[in-house]
Amino acid sequence: MEESYFACPACGDLLDAEYEWDRLEVPESLSWFERRWASRKNILDFSGVWRFRELLPFCDESYCVTVREGQTILQENDGVGRYTQMDPGCLHLQYEGLNPSGSFKDNGMTGAFSHAQMVGARHAVCASTGNTSASLALYAHSCGMNSSVFIGSGRIAYGKLSQALDFGARTLQIAGDFDDCMRQVQEVCREEKLYLVNSLNPFRLEGQKTIMFRVLEALNWQVPDWIVVPGGNLGNSSAFGKAFAELKHLGLIDRIPRLAIINATGANTLFDLYENQGMRFNGGQVDNAGIDAYYRKLNETGYKPHTLATAIEISRPVNLKKCLRALEICNGVVREVSDDDIVDAKAVVGREGLGCEPASAATVAGLKLLREQKVIAAGETVVCILTGHQLKDPNITVKYHTENQSRYSNRPIEVDNEIGAILKALNR
Ligand code: F0G
Repeated sequence: MEESYFACPACGDLLDAEYEWDRLEVPESLSWFERRWASRKNILDFSGVWRFRELLPFCDESYCVTVREGQTILQENDGVGRYTQMDPGCLHLQYEGLNPSGSFKDNGMTGAFSHAQMVGARHAVCASTGNTSASLALYAHSCGMNSSVFIGSGRIAYGKLSQALDFGARTLQIAGDFDDCMRQVQEVCREEKLYLVNSLNPFRLEGQKTIMFRVLEALNWQVPDWIVVPGGNLGNSSAFGKAFAELKHLGLIDRIPRLAIINATGANTLFDLYENQGMRFNGGQVDNAGIDAYYRKLNETGYKPHTLATAIEISRPVNLKKCLRALEICNGVVREVSDDDIVDAKAVVGREGLGCEPASAATVAGLKLLREQKVIAAGETVVCILTGHQLKDPNITVKYHTENQSRYSNRPIEVDNEIGAILKALNR
């Protein structure tokens, strides 16, 4: 394999896929893409990522690795709308848990693996809080590459761990957390020529742009007022900002929605930097010294992130600067929500019909807060991204319903193995 750089060797900043749009053929309107449904027997036209390939034109079709990802749904949900005090018809949930590995990661992984094929890579690696590893393992298997995943010991939900094991990835449980794994995997990639598929890989972000294309499609190509997304390693938010900047540049949309990124309070680096310390992208003039000082302080105080939304238990997000750019593009806001609010919101999402994992429900908890703060109005059109499937983390769900006395818990009823008792319990 020739060497692949994802960061600039000179300044260390992450690289981006940039296109010379005026030399490329791009459809004149977004509705042009609807015709792909008629030719969906072509696997690339079926994929919810590659059917938009003119908007991520980094790769010849012959290299595309796809498992038919991206068949996901946008659901108008008035039940969750009531919980968040939105007007009827205004709240939408984009359920990315319907991807083949059960999370939004597949949108990006198809991009990364297609690039890996382009450069002839043989062995893919990642650090993960779980979903990236499940997705990596699935795609590696589908194109015959070797795969190894680095996960923090005891910091991964069982649904996700079981997938990485089942799909046959070499699974290294590192005695540390995600930030430790991320540092180690980058170090290993410097030593060995392995292909890194974390979201510092720009081709991951290219694939993840299509989540926004599908949202627009489901809204009949109308731009919503707000996109609400959980913030972990900040790949999704970075990809969404890039998607909207490009669509606007190409004249395919006439305005850009606002972005709300939701951290867990126990892993709130972005919130702290953006909302408390006023860190901004500044047209590219980011205060690098300020970020370095922030991380130095985390080291000195021995800070470790802690949230039961393990997917976003990250304190050194690799896409921080790209995310600041997205916040600038989308006039964004950042909020933090507590674990208690996350699990309540998760129970409401479940009860109202879709279900999701804890990190995904941070969006609904965040929207509730932004409504209380009157940042978002009841009549605005809002899309919350549900990033991962309900079954990814069953332990948290069962614990919530069996141990919590919360308003939304649904306790199982213990009944004697006897018809009278069963009928009594049924009619209680
Ligand atoms: N939601 C879920 C379900 C996730 O798995 C992740 C990240 C996020 C949100 C955060 O997204 O990184 O784009 O800000 N999971 C990664 C992993 C870190 O390793 O699976 P982000």
